[in-house]
Amino acid sequence: MITGGSDPRFLRRLLRMDDAFARGDERPDANFYAAKRMVSHLDATALATVEALVGGLVTEEAPVILDLMASWDSHLPASLKPSRVAGLGMNREELVANPALSERIIHDLNGDPRLPLGDDTFDVVLNVVSVEYLTRPEEVFREVGRVLKPGGLFLVIFSNRWFPPKVVRVWEDASEAERLELVEEYFRASGAFGHPGSFASMGLPRPRSDRYYASGVPSDPVFAVFAEKKGATPGRAARVAPTDPSRIELDAEAVNTRKARVAETMACPYCGKALSKWEVPDDPCIDWNNDFLYLCFNDACPFVVRGWRFMWEQGIEGHSYRYLFNPATGASTTVPIRGLHDLKPGIVEGG
Ligand SMILES: C[S@@+](CC[C@H](N)C(=O)[O-])C[C@H]1O[C@@H](n2cnc3c(N)ncnc32)[C@H](O)[C@@H]1O
Repeated sequence: MITGGSDPRFLRRLLRMDDAFARGDERPDANFYAAKRMVSHLDATALATVEALVGGLVTEEAPVILDLMASWDSHLPASLKPSRVAGLGMNREELVANPALSERIIHDLNGDPRLPLGDDTFDVVLNVVSVEYLTRPEEVFREVGRVLKPGGLFLVIFSNRWFPPKVVRVWEDASEAERLELVEEYFRASGAFGHPGSFASMGLPRPRSDRYYASGVPSDPVFAVFAEKKGATPGRAARVAPTDPSRIELDAEAVNTRKARVAETMACPYCGKALSKWEVPDDPCIDWNNDFLYLCFNDACPFVVRGWRFMWEQGIEGHSYRYLFNPATGASTTVPIRGLHDLKPGIVEGG
């Protein structure tokens, strides 16, 4: 269970604020979604995590699925063989382009949160990168509870980007950790579900082919909150989220042994890749103790990947650090980064 550590009373007060669900663009959603957007909302690494999450949590054979707030991709892994997939969204062309769907429903949940679907119908309701647009989430979550079969799964997945005119204020103002709590609160407030579980994956490198690779931002984080509708068959096995690919286990003893030999190997003790010679920046405020230091510039290094989460857990989003070795002092230390391309201009080619 991941928690951001804020006081739930504070969150409830935020939710009661008059403008909690206000948006920049208050015109009917039908206007905004009139034109199709056949875009990927996440990079390929994050999309693979989403599919693994869906595949891991959906345990039913031939499940009946509702993709709530659907577009052209329902993120169902090929291994899943649903008997029926209903997609509910705002743009018909996007839904028609979605090959997973066996039926398509155009319906504005902010205009009318009631789902035009029968009670106890679905094994699974999915909601991917869309919960931030709901202006009446409690009612929608209650409705999801109504259409799910007892013990059915509601899986809400989100990241950290959205269409700015349509996001609700409380979402925009919250931190990433608070957003997890916000969705947990939506589940609780609806009264329809058991205790929610959560998942957070972050810090994996963004694929080079991704349009935002040059920004240096790692792969889009994948957050999820999920719960079963009350009334599951007693004794049924609990659903367990798959292992988060960004949680890389380290053997501390092996790392320490390798650290003691860095002057000899000039290899990163965390990933084993060769360290790069790095010219220190000309900054009078920092005494680097040497003109050249040695850094690990492997973006997939477990030290860097785990660093994004470590900082996030301290409440510092969007930061990590790299391993640094000073040959003059023999010291192993770290240097903070906000993006994967920070510090790279100082690499001494062939050094
Ligand atoms: C960022 S897209 C995500 C689409 C899809 N779930 C995915 O993972 O690619 C947000 C989706 O939410 C749907 N949506 C937004 N506002 C909605 C509303 N008021 N009622 C129903 N669906 C809505 C839109 O149709 C849009 O496709």
